[in-house]
Amino acid sequence: MSGLDDLAGIGADRRRGGYSRHVFDDAERHLREWFVEQAERRGLAVETDANTNIWAWWGNPGPGAVVTGSHLDSVPGGGAFDGPLGVVSALEAVDLLRERGFRPRAPLALVVFSEEEGGRFGVPCLGSRLMTGTIHPDRARGLRDSDGLTFAEAMGSFGADPARIGRDDDALGRIAAFVELHVEQGKGLIDLNRPIAVADSILGHGRWRFRFRGQGNHAGATLIDDRNDPMIPAARLVLAARDAAAATRDGRATVGRLVPTPGGTNVIASAVDVHLDARAPRDARALVDDLAGQAREFAAQEGCHVDVVEESFGDTVHFDPTLRDRLRTVLGDAPTLPTGAGHDAGVLAAETPTAMLFVRNPTGISHAPEEHATAEDCEEGSHALARVLAELAG
Ligand code: GLV
Ligand code: MN
Ligand code: MN
Ligand code: MN
Repeated sequence: MSGLDDLAGIGADRRRGGYSRHVFDDAERHLREWFVEQAERRGLAVETDANTNIWAWWGNPGPGAVVTGSHLDSVPGGGAFDGPLGVVSALEAVDLLRERGFRPRAPLALVVFSEEEGGRFGVPCLGSRLMTGTIHPDRARGLRDSDGLTFAEAMGSFGADPARIGRDDDALGRIAAFVELHVEQGKGLIDLNRPIAVADSILGHGRWRFRFRGQGNHAGATLIDDRNDPMIPAARLVLAARDAAAATRDGRATVGRLVPTPGGTNVIASAVDVHLDARAPRDARALVDDLAGQAREFAAQEGCHVDVVEESFGDTVHFDPTLRDRLRTVLGDAPTLPTGAGHDAGVLAAETPTAMLFVRNPTGISHAPEEHATAEDCEEGSHALARVLAELAG
């Protein structure tokens, strides 16, 4: 908890509530500096890789490493635990292992992944996607934030070289196993009345941008029948997305961001961007294809146009069953849970055996200021992580 207390207030968002910590902004740089200081204080060797992920090594960096960590960035107005809990618990697990006199036989590394939430440049898990080559470096360099600044430009002002980003076989070749501890983002552990679970799977998910274009005009002088208002098909898409997801087994669709241009109360918009997050166990893309067809009809009925762009996608991930069962055994038959949330562990799962630990969230709320974990459960979490690391690196 003292680790989390260190971070309290950094990136607090007074307008939206909660925390807004976005890659390379002041708050996120502050958090990076905090992590480096904590790691160095423990005598760990720190390096920032070409994709701006931070590594801290106990033992010589090299193959066969057991890696744990998470991220420090947040969604806009997010909670205090999503990301930081996994980083703080990793540091705490190192302390616990040392107190017990544990000496790792395999190298042990802590990692902080960059831009996990995609809160600034729109693509989630950007640091791990770059490292694994699941996003092309050219595309990543050209991603823009809401001020129009590219990822390459932002990297430049951060002091990193955008020419070096991309698949990192050296980094990947070192990882024998990756374990990410995370606050649970639903009610699974509340229902089970247990503090800790081992993850089973991550729901397939992606992000799409629907851009509706019409004719900007005057809100008072333009008769209703004379309008090409892109907000109308955008609004219909919001409802259609909800209905399409509800008709799918375990599907979800969310419009968490809707941006009219130019965005004036007395202005009929000339364009509206609808940012859609869609998730489904089997085929989130099929759900979105269906919505794209509906969106074209909604647009045509208002004399508008729509373009659909897929911004990110990842299939459903089933975590390595051998590693998962090993964790369950070490933790005295911990329950397993699926999750609808995305994680760097899900990206790395295609490359290396990967597992996750979830810590109970008594509110069941996440990506919002009400996200929580009790001090007792956080302690359970770091002890569980220490046991897992001892098993894998001992
Ligand atoms: C990340 O938290 C996501 O699932 O969007
Ligand atoms: Mn998150
Ligand atoms: Mn997270
Ligand atoms: Mn006027």
